[in-house]
Amino acid sequence: MPVSQTNFAWATLLDVGPPEPGRHRLHDRLAHALRTAIRDGRLPEGAAVPPSRALAEELGCSRWVVTEAYGQLIAEGYLSARVGSATRVSWSPDTAPPRPRTRHTPTPPPIRYDLAPGLPDLRAFPRRRWVDAVRAVIGSAVHYDLGLPDPTGHVVLRTTVAQYLRRSRGADAHAVSVSVCAGVTDGLVRTCRALRAEGITDLAVEDPGWGRLRDAATSAGLRVHPVPVDHDGLRVDDLARTSARAVVVGAAHQFPTGTVLSPARRARLVRWAREVDGFVIEDDYDAEFRYDHHPVAVMQGMDPSRVFLLGSVSKTLSPALGLGWLVAPAVMIPALRAANPVAAAPPVLDQLALATFIDRGWYDAHLRAARRRFRSRRDLLVRTLATGLPDGRVAGTAAGLHILLHLPDGADTRTVVRAAADAGLRLADLDDYRTKQSAERALVLGYGNISDTEIPPALALLREALRSPATQAPPDPGRDHP
Ligand SMILES: Cc1ncc(COP(=O)(O)O)c(C=O)c1O
Repeated sequence: MPVSQTNFAWATLLDVGPPEPGRHRLHDRLAHALRTAIRDGRLPEGAAVPPSRALAEELGCSRWVVTEAYGQLIAEGYLSARVGSATRVSWSPDTAPPRPRTRHTPTPPPIRYDLAPGLPDLRAFPRRRWVDAVRAVIGSAVHYDLGLPDPTGHVVLRTTVAQYLRRSRGADAHAVSVSVCAGVTDGLVRTCRALRAEGITDLAVEDPGWGRLRDAATSAGLRVHPVPVDHDGLRVDDLARTSARAVVVGAAHQFPTGTVLSPARRARLVRWAREVDGFVIEDDYDAEFRYDHHPVAVMQGMDPSRVFLLGSVSKTLSPALGLGWLVAPAVMIPALRAANPVAAAPPVLDQLALATFIDRGWYDAHLRAARRRFRSRRDLLVRTLATGLPDGRVAGTAAGLHILLHLPDGADTRTVVRAAADAGLRLADLDDYRTKQSAERALVLGYGNISDTEIPPALALLREALRSPATQAPPDPGRDHP
């Protein structure tokens, strides 16, 4: 018999537990906790599990973690989901083992156009030059390079990255303060472990922000405090209301709002770090792309003793390379090493290929071409929106690989995203990046990996989705119109 009320104490029922070998990612641990609760009968067949947003709030994780866990259990046959109704437990210990989803289950329509943020232009990956760099490295690496790797990265790449960051980002970086890592996320995990070892247990993050950064910090054992963002970036004064002594900030281009941290707030943030004897962790993930003027220099240059700098090639070349860097304050370098005893740098030959790619000027040439391409693609997107969707409002600095689109009055983002997905268009809802639902209704549109010719038909599908009667939000006393 279906159980319609689900007033369980979810946080208690789903004891997500600490990371274990083979199950260190938060969504895997949540899926495991759910599966166990269903298998041992604590979650009976027919019980509705909470909406992903509600469970994420209760467990203090991102909504992405919950949707991934639910998706996994749906695929395994423990849960079933139907459009318009709650996701429910579809298995009981008394019945046969769950049947994984078969091809009889309706599969979502294929994605024809992808306007979700996250990727650079993968078609423009500089394959030929990357092959040249790899070939050069294979031919020239001394046999010592093929020995045991330095866990902080090969000195050649650390030197090259330090030079690159000094000249292009105004950073105060030297080979000794640079560690090579697998990207910003990996760099943040390493940094958080070091902070924890130094007695810092609480970290502030931007809200809205990229959920994986929250998850990375939690997985390293820190308590996370969401702090709001407004048109000047992170609300620095609000940090005083938390017990955080460290903060992650997208100073050059906040994700997903697209704001730039104002000069006054940059100065105040550095002052805050000194006052609390803490640190700022600067996420410089897409700062190479600024289209209205030169990129703003990193905050790290203002006080290298208080600011960590994280960056990667995920937005400039490809996240599949898994190459990034972390610049640490001198005082934290020993803690960083000690707190990450088994963390390995990415494969040495890949590191040397990136060093060659940068040293030969190919990275700068690639960035120049990418800037031109993304500037004109952003212009095309904004122009097409202005004519095709005049009631929408575009926000965000002319930078990076995404814009914010505030929807016309009355449109409900969640149903717009669903209607668009049914038509083959992938979109992202600003609310998905928040820890709590807000009155602001906006989409985050990524233009990195969509071709120019796909933009008009993709926006035509968005217009259609907005016209669908289902997308008009019912009056909601708890959610004002923007
Ligand atoms: C805010 C933010 N920071 C950092 C990154 C890059 O992370 P990584 O270097 O781990 O790929 C992303 C990628 O989507 C991001 O959105």
